[in-house]
Amino acid sequence: MDKLVVLVRSLFNHEMKEHFILFNQPISSNFLYVLFLLLALFHNSLASLDPHYLAKGETLFVENHDTKFITSPDDTFTFGFYKTGNNAFSLAIWFTKPKTLVWMANREKPVNGVGSKVSLGSNGAMVLTDFDGTVSWDTNTTSTDIARAELLNSGNLVLKNSRGDVKWQSFDYPTDTLLPNQNFTRNSRLVSSSRNGSYDPRYFSLKFDSDNVLRLIYDGPEISSIYWPNPEDTVRDNGRTSYNSTRNAVLDDRGWFLSSDGLNFKTIDMGFGINRRMTLDYDGNLRVYSLNNSTGSWQVSWQALTNPCLIRGLCGENGICVFSSQPKCSCPPGYVVNDPSDWSRGCKPTFDLSGQNNQPMKLVKIPEIDYFGYFDINHTASISLDVCQKICLENSNCKAVIFRDVGCYPKSALFNGLPAGYATLFLKVPQNLSVSEPVKLEGHPATCEFNPRVVEGNSTLHLRGTRRVIWIYLYSFCFALLGIELVFVLLGWFFLFRKSNVSDTIEHGYEMIASQFRRFSYEELRKATNNFSEELGKGGSGVVYKGVLSDGRMVGVKRLGDVLQGDEEFWSEMNIIGKINHMNLVRTWGYCSGKKHRLLVYEYVENSSLDKHLFSKKRFLGWEQRFAVAFGTAKALAYLHDECLEWVIHCDIKPENILLDGDLQPKIADFGLAKLYQRGGGGSGLELSRIRGTKGYMAPEWALNQPITAKVDVYSYGIVILEIVSGIRLSNWTMNRRTNQLETELAKLTRIIKGQGEESWIERVLDPRLKRKVSKKQAITLIKVGYSCAQEDRNKRPRMASVVETLLQAASGNSVRECSGL
Ligand SMILES: *[C@@H]1O[C@H](CO)[C@@H](O)[C@H](O)[C@H]1NC(C)=O
Ligand SMILES: *[C@@H]1O[C@H](CO)[C@@H](O)[C@H](O)[C@H]1NC(C)=O
Ligand SMILES: *[C@@H]1O[C@H](CO)[C@@H](O)[C@H](O)[C@H]1NC(C)=O
Ligand SMILES: *[C@@H]1O[C@H](CO)[C@@H](O)[C@H](O)[C@H]1NC(C)=O
Repeated sequence: MDKLVVLVRSLFNHEMKEHFILFNQPISSNFLYVLFLLLALFHNSLASLDPHYLAKGETLFVENHDTKFITSPDDTFTFGFYKTGNNAFSLAIWFTKPKTLVWMANREKPVNGVGSKVSLGSNGAMVLTDFDGTVSWDTNTTSTDIARAELLNSGNLVLKNSRGDVKWQSFDYPTDTLLPNQNFTRNSRLVSSSRNGSYDPRYFSLKFDSDNVLRLIYDGPEISSIYWPNPEDTVRDNGRTSYNSTRNAVLDDRGWFLSSDGLNFKTIDMGFGINRRMTLDYDGNLRVYSLNNSTGSWQVSWQALTNPCLIRGLCGENGICVFSSQPKCSCPPGYVVNDPSDWSRGCKPTFDLSGQNNQPMKLVKIPEIDYFGYFDINHTASISLDVCQKICLENSNCKAVIFRDVGCYPKSALFNGLPAGYATLFLKVPQNLSVSEPVKLEGHPATCEFNPRVVEGNSTLHLRGTRRVIWIYLYSFCFALLGIELVFVLLGWFFLFRKSNVSDTIEHGYEMIASQFRRFSYEELRKATNNFSEELGKGGSGVVYKGVLSDGRMVGVKRLGDVLQGDEEFWSEMNIIGKINHMNLVRTWGYCSGKKHRLLVYEYVENSSLDKHLFSKKRFLGWEQRFAVAFGTAKALAYLHDECLEWVIHCDIKPENILLDGDLQPKIADFGLAKLYQRGGGGSGLELSRIRGTKGYMAPEWALNQPITAKVDVYSYGIVILEIVSGIRLSNWTMNRRTNQLETELAKLTRIIKGQGEESWIERVLDPRLKRKVSKKQAITLIKVGYSCAQEDRNKRPRMASVVETLLQAASGNSVRECSGL
C-alpha cells in the first residue's frame, strides 16, 4: 500500500516540474509529448520503487532529479542529480537536510539538464552520460556480477555484487569533503572548490606529502606552496612525524581525528550522534563542521588555521594580507586591485614595470611587511642596507627587496605579503610616484563573510518573459493533471484508509530532532547534581555544582543569582551562548529556566582553575603549559570579540575563570553572562560593574564611567598574563622599600619593566619556581604583551586578534613581533 502512495506522490511531483520543460517545445507537439511522458513516468515509477538502491539495468534521468534519487536507509544522505548551474547537473551525494554537498562524481564535467542519465549497466559499471550520449563519468568497474548500487548510512555509495561484497565505493574518491569513518589514504586528496561556487576544483588541496606528512598545499597558476602545518617549522615542531609510512587518517564517529603522521585532534563537540563533515573550503581552510540539530545549520567545530592570512594566495599576487579580527587585503603603494570582488586575483602596478630601464625608479620603505616565497633573485647575507637597495635598483627584474636580519632578499615576484616584525620591505616604484610615508595599508575584507555551502532545498524557477499563451496553456494543463491526480490520491487514501498516518512515513527524517544544546527541567538537574550536593566553586554570578547527566556526561551546573531578564529574553541569550563554540571556551550544554530558577549546564573541566595552579604551593605549571594557557586564552578572547559572530565581551577575565582541562589546555568559563545582566540594568557601565568585574583585573574605564568595549577584556588579559609569568597576584599590596609606601605588585612590576633592559626583566619578573627553565623569547613576548595590554589608556592596548598573532609568531619560532605600546 505504501508503494501506491509513493507512486501517486512521485507522479504529482513530476507534473509540477515536467511542464516547465515544455517551454522550448512547439505547442502543437506538446500533447503527444505529455502522453509520452506520462507513460514513461509510469514505467519508471514501477521499475524502481525502492528509493534505497539502484538495481542492475536501472536508470536515473536528470529530468526527474527532484523526485528520483536514492537515499540512505536512515535518510541522512541522498544520491542523485544535483543542480550546479542554470541547466547543469552533477551526479552527487549530499546531506538530505540541510542540503549540503559531500561528494560529486563529475566535478569538472557537468551534464545537461535534459537528456542526461546515469545507469547501472549489465557490464557492471555505473555510467553517467550527457544529453548527446558522451560518457561524462564512469566507475570503470568491470565485474559483470554487480547487482546494485546502494547508498549506506555513512554517505558511502557502493556497488555490490550478488553476494553483497563491495566492488566499488565513492569513499575511495573524495572531492572536497571527508565524512566520518571515510579513510583518507596515501592516494586520497581533498581539493577545494572554486570561490564563485561553480564546484570545479581549485588550488587548495589536502594530501599526504612524499614525507608522510598530511599537508595543505596551495597550487596556484603562478606558484605552489605548502601552508599547513607551518612550513617555517620542522615537522617535529609542528607535532607531526614523518617516520610512519602508513599514510592513513580518519575522523571517527566521536569527532576524533587521528592521522598516522601524529595529527590528532578532537572537535569541540566531541561525542556520538552528531553529523559531521570535514571540508576543505574554497578559502583554503580545512574545517570540521557539525550539524546543530536544533538550528539545522552547520557550525565549525575545528579548523586548521586560525589566521587565514597564512593561507597562501588569499590576497593574490602583490597583495598584502593583514589579520585583525578578519583577514584584510591591501595593495602596496602604486598598485591597484585587479578585481575588488575577488582579492585572490591580486594587485597590478599602475606604472610600467617592464620598461623600467627608461624610467628612474626609487624604493619606498614599508616597515614590518614580508613577502614569503621563493622568488628571491639572489639572496645575500650580511650586506648593508645601502648595498642591498642598490642591488634591487640596478636589477630590472627586481620588484622589491626585503631586508631582514642583515639579509637581503631581492624579489622578482611578490606573493603572500604578511606583517612580520623583523622584516622591512622596500618597494620599487617610479621616482615621480608620490607616496606619503609612513605608508598606510587600507585593508579590505577578504573572505570573512564566509558561509558554508548550504543550499536551499528547492530551487526556484524563473518564469520571466514567458508568453501569455503558454501561461493559459499551462494553467489548463495543470488543472487537468490535478484532476487526474486527485483521482489517484483519493484512490490511494481509499486503500490506505486504515493505515496510520501516511504523511509520517513520507516526511520521516525531515523533522527537527532534539538539539544538543537544550533546555533541562529543574527536576532533571536536581537529580544530576544529587540535589546540588557537591560544590565545585563559587563566583560572582553564582555557585557551580558538579553533576552527571542521564547520558553519563559530567557537567557543571551553575545556579545564577538574580537575573533581571524575562524568560523569553533569557531564552534568546541562551541560544546565542549555545552557539558559541571554541576549543578554549567552556561549552554550554543547556540551561534551565523557571519561575524561581535560572541554571546553566556546562561541560565539566577536570583540572580546576588557573589560580589554583599559579598561586598554590601544591601545584605547579611548567613554562610550556603557561605559554599554552596564555595562547589559548588569547585565541578564545579573539574569537569572542571578533570572529564573525555575536559580539561578546567577557568582562570578568581572571585566573578563577580560566579552567584547565585534562591536557592543561585553558577553557574560559562564564562568558556571555555580561549580556544577561546588562539589559535589565539599562546597560550603563556602572550598573554592569556592580555585578561583573573583579578588583585588580578591572580596566580603569570601569571606574571612569566610560563606555565598556572589548578593551576591558584586553586589560584583564594583560594582568592575567603578567600573573602567569610572575606567579604573583598582582592586586596584592607590598611595601616599597625605598619610598616606604604601599604599592601594588603591578606598579612594582611596571617600574621594573619600564626601567630596565630585557635581560634583567627575566631575572626579576619571572616566577622563581620556574628556575629559569623558560623559552627566553617567549618570556619576553609574554611580558611585552602583558604590559601593553594592561595600559591605562585603552587606545594603546592591542586588540586580542593582534595578540594572537604576536603569540603565534613566538610559538612558531619566528622572531617576536612587538605588541604596540612599548
Ligand atoms: C575511469 O577511467 C577513465 C579513463 O581512464 C578516467 O578518466 C576516470 O577518472 C576513471 N573513473 C574513475 C571513477 O576512476
Ligand atoms: C567562476 O569562475 C570560472 C573560472 O574560474 C569562470 O569561468 C566562471 O565564469 C565564474 N562564474 C561566475 C558566476 O563568476
Ligand atoms: C602508524 O600509523 C598507524 C595508523 O595511524 C598506526 O596504527 C601504527 O601503529 C603507526 N605505526 C607506528 C610505528 O607508530
Ligand atoms: C541529531 O540528529 C541525528 C540524525 O538526524 C541523530 O542521529 C542524533 O541522535 C541527533 N543528535 C542529538 C544530540 O540529538
